Amino acid sequence: MTSATVYRRTSRCPRGYRTSETRCASGDAVCYHHRLRYGRCKRPRSVTAVTHDFEELRKFVAPEILFGDDARALCGAYAERIGMRRVLVVTDPGVTACGWVEPVLDDLAEHGIETLVFSDVSPNPRSAQVMRGASAYQEGACDAIVAVGGGSPMDCAKGIGVVASNGGHVLDYAGVDRVVVPMPPLICIPTTAGTGADVSQFAIITDEVNRTKVGLISKSLVPDLALVDPTVLRTMSAELTAATGMDAMVHAVEAFVSNASWEMTDNLALAAVRRIPQALPVCCTDPDDGPSRRAMALASLDAGLAFSNASLGAVHALAHALGGRLDASHGECNALLLGPVMRHNFRYVSHERLELLAEALGVSGGSYAENIPAWFDEFRASLGIYSEDQGTVLSESDFESIARTASVDACMATNPYRPSVPQLVEILHDALD
Ligand SMILES: [Fe+2]
Repeated sequence: MTSATVYRRTSRCPRGYRTSETRCASGDAVCYHHRLRYGRCKRPRSVTAVTHDFEELRKFVAPEILFGDDARALCGAYAERIGMRRVLVVTDPGVTACGWVEPVLDDLAEHGIETLVFSDVSPNPRSAQVMRGASAYQEGACDAIVAVGGGSPMDCAKGIGVVASNGGHVLDYAGVDRVVVPMPPLICIPTTAGTGADVSQFAIITDEVNRTKVGLISKSLVPDLALVDPTVLRTMSAELTAATGMDAMVHAVEAFVSNASWEMTDNLALAAVRRIPQALPVCCTDPDDGPSRRAMALASLDAGLAFSNASLGAVHALAHALGGRLDASHGECNALLLGPVMRHNFRYVSHERLELLAEALGVSGGSYAENIPAWFDEFRASLGIYSEDQGTVLSESDFESIARTASVDACMATNPYRPSVPQLVEILHDALD
C-alpha cells in the first residue's frame, strides 16, 4: 500500500479544480470532477482490479443519520436544534393519505416550528413542480425544508432548496458540482426503501421539454439529517416495494463495478447486496415482517451511501433517458436494465470482483459473467417486474435517441467501460423486447 499523493493541478482540466486533483485509472492526470463530467479519460481501464489504487484520493460524504423504529418522531427536536423556524414540508398526496405527514407537522408545531406543506409532487418530479415549490418556499418566507416521502418528494425538495438558495431555474444546475450556494437545511424522512435520496448527493428531475431526466450531483445536495424509520415501509404496495428495492440493488451493483469505487463503498455495496435477496421478497408479500423491513431500510441506506460516493453507471444513464421518455418508474426501468447492462459490463470487471459479488448474492458455479446477470433477470421477474413489451411503443429512432441521451448522462462517466450508441441500443432491445 502506498500513501495518497496530491498531484499538481493539470492543465487538461478547464474547470480548474485544485483540491480534488487525481489521476484517472489509466494514469492520465485529470481532475475528478472533470472526469465525472466529461469522461475525458481516453484509455478506459480494461479490468476493474480486486484491489484499489491507493494513489487515488477518495472522499466520502454522508449526512447525520438516525436509524430505527420511530426515528421520525425525533424530527421536531432535531429541527429545533438545527435552528429551523419556518419549514416547507415537501411530500406527495399518497404519503399524506398513508398518514405519515400529519404526525410530523404536529411534532414540528410542538417544538415551536411553523410549517407550510407543498404536496404538488408527482412520480418522476417535473422541473415545473420544483419551480412551484421554490416559489412556495420564497413566498412563505421559509428557512428550511423537511421532505417526507419516497425519491420523488426528496428529489423535489433538493431541487427546491437549490433554487431557493441559488436562484434561476432548477435545470440550470443539472450536471456535476454546479450548485454554488449551499441549500437551506434539509431533513429527509424516507417512506420507501431503495432511493437513497435521503443520504445521497444526487437529485433526479424530469426535464419535460426534452422528455428526459437530468441529474443534479453536488455535495451541496447531501441532506443535513436522515431519519430512517423502517416502520413507515409497511404502507408500501407490493409493486412499489419491488421497484424501490430493485433500485437499491442497482445502486449497490453499479457502485461496486464503478470506476470510482473504493474500499468504503465496496463494503457498503456488498452489505446491501447480501441483504436484498432475502429481505425484499418477504417485504413484498408480508410488509408487517419487522426484521425484513429493517433489513431493506438498512440495505437502502448502505446502497445509497455507496452510490453517492462511487457514483453509478450505464443502468442509471439508460433508466434516466428511458424513464423520461416513457414517464416510467425509475425502479422498474433499472430492474429491467440491470441484467442486460451487466452482461456487457462484466467483461470489464475482474474475476475476483465478480466472485465477491456472486458470493454476496448467493450465486455459485459456472461463469459469473453469465450467471450473475441471469440471476438478476430471474430475481426481478420473481418480484413481478416484466418488460410488458415497452419496446413495442418505441420506434427504432426512439431507441437511438434514448441511447444518445444516455451516452452523455453524468452517470455514464463511472461505468466500467464506455458503451457505444449501437451497444446501448442493443442493451435497450435486450431489456424491453
Ligand atoms: Fe436509482
